[in-house]
Amino acid sequence: MKLKAIGAFAALVTLLTSTSVFAAGDASRGQAFYATCGACHGANAEGMEALNAPALAGQEEWYVVRQLQNFKKGIRGGAGDVYGMQMAPMAMILPDDQAMEDVAAYIKSLGK
Ligand code: HEC
Repeated sequence: MKLKAIGAFAALVTLLTSTSVFAAGDASRGQAFYATCGACHGANAEGMEALNAPALAGQEEWYVVRQLQNFKKGIRGGAGDVYGMQMAPMAMILPDDQAMEDVAAYIKSLGK
């Protein structure tokens, strides 16, 4: 009985430490980062077809963060991914996951 409880606790600790827990995104901090993004995605994240940059306004924060991580890790934007290669260096200007959360919160707020 006691062993089972310890096992469950250990599993929970593993789960919590393997999942990165970040503070919720801060849209006002994200706005500063977005200044660069707006050059391609539009000042209000409405998208710019001429630059192949999609609209982002209102997009779910978890999706934006995951795509930014994918660009940063090279999962998107590798050889042969012509448009992704234009975006990948942009993900690099976001120093950490908190910055991604912040810019995602700002993008989400633009959809209102
Ligand atoms: C040089 C132009 C350019 C800049 C600047 C730029 N992007 Fe992009 N972005 C693109 C292009 C082009 C794509 C489309 C890539 C593709 O087709 O796979 C894209 C795609 C994305 C996507 C994926 C959208 C989806 O639905 O999968 C996200 C998220 C994104 N950009 C966020 C940002 C953020 C945040 C910034 C600022 C840090 C930024 N972009 C700056 C050109 C740019």
